[in-house]
Amino acid sequence: MNPFNYQGPVAPGRLINRRGELHVLQRAAADGVAIRLAAPRRFGKTSLLDAHVASMQAVGHRALRVDLSKVSTAGDVAARVAGAFSALPNDPRRTVRRWSARLGVSAHVAGVKLSLAPSAVRPPADEARAALLELLDVPLGLHEQDGGLTVVCLDEFQDLLVADDSLDGLFRAVIQHHGGAAAYVFAGSQPSLMRALFSDRERPFYGQARPLELPGLPADEAARDVESLLAASGLQADGAVDELLAFTSGHPQRTVLLAHHLYNVLDSPDRPDDPAAEAIDLALAETRDAHQAVWDSLGRVERIVVMALADGQAPTGTRVAGEHRIARSTLQDALERLVADERNVARDQQGRPYLLDPLLGEWLRRR
Ligand SMILES: Nc1ncnc2c1ncn2[C@@H]1O[C@H](COP(=O)(O)OP(=O)(O)OP(=O)(O)O)[C@@H](O)[C@H]1O
Ligand SMILES: [Mg+2]
Repeated sequence: MNPFNYQGPVAPGRLINRRGELHVLQRAAADGVAIRLAAPRRFGKTSLLDAHVASMQAVGHRALRVDLSKVSTAGDVAARVAGAFSALPNDPRRTVRRWSARLGVSAHVAGVKLSLAPSAVRPPADEARAALLELLDVPLGLHEQDGGLTVVCLDEFQDLLVADDSLDGLFRAVIQHHGGAAAYVFAGSQPSLMRALFSDRERPFYGQARPLELPGLPADEAARDVESLLAASGLQADGAVDELLAFTSGHPQRTVLLAHHLYNVLDSPDRPDDPAAEAIDLALAETRDAHQAVWDSLGRVERIVVMALADGQAPTGTRVAGEHRIARSTLQDALERLVADERNVARDQQGRPYLLDPLLGEWLRRR
């Protein structure tokens, strides 16, 4: 079986690196400090949270992850919380059980198998808010019972505001009284929205959580881990893994996607001369539609900027400006919009802009 899973969170045992981040999370839980983890899509936020949950459970704490992605109503939020909390032991007031039934959440055997009824059958907003007020307080009830700590990881936290833009106030009102009873991690993939939640003076969570960055994977360690998984299946990669890491610059999901294809290429009876190039071709074929969708969503000047970035040119320099007869200030504005949008373009430590997805860059170069 191909050991490279690139489609969802990876099991804690398969995590490449992230020791530093896990250490920060563990220390913060011990100190009762809340953390906010913001990173681009597919950088391994959920995988890191799962590893944190596993390590907290291993030392005897209660720990869980609530997935808030694409919640669209307060009822959805309450149902997700009830579902995740059903993995906890019975709380003194049996809150989770009581609300689970009313929210259409059925959990079998302590949250092992969970089903959520369609959101159309959820209760009205005021009842959902009442549910949240009680559910979010469950860690406190458990703490009063046994003095234990519950680690609560809220994944895609910014989606809360899609459901109802006052729900962060409700969350904060409840959990601010949980010192010692619960430790919180807020994770999200739209970094600017996460920043708005925690850095905007008007919002209830202003200044309430310490930021934790999630960079790309260190190339040497990622290469070593990929090589050893290949070797465990009897596959010799020679220089191909280093080539792939040079190509992905440590982008977590793209690295694993390419490793997945490299595994298949090396495992096939007719091994090509350049396995890394073959893996890149396969990954490009698989992701073509996504790149086309990104391209279609961009305006003319943004397209010129991303093209320049893909070609390794200064996107706001005189050469690009002259070639397209566009003022440099117009290019600069487009670049700033792309950086602010955070989905496709980021800045490195030196402030230089780059394309987040190495495969998008390659797709553009092959235009
Ligand atoms: N530390 C890591 N070690 C190995 N693989 C990783 C790591 N981080 C991310 N990945 C790869 O990236 C993929 C996406 O990881 P994950 O779902 O945790 O990211 P995410 O940031 O939560 O993504 P999304 O924005 O889609 O929610 C995984 O399937 C895996 O292939
Ligand atoms: Mg995720």
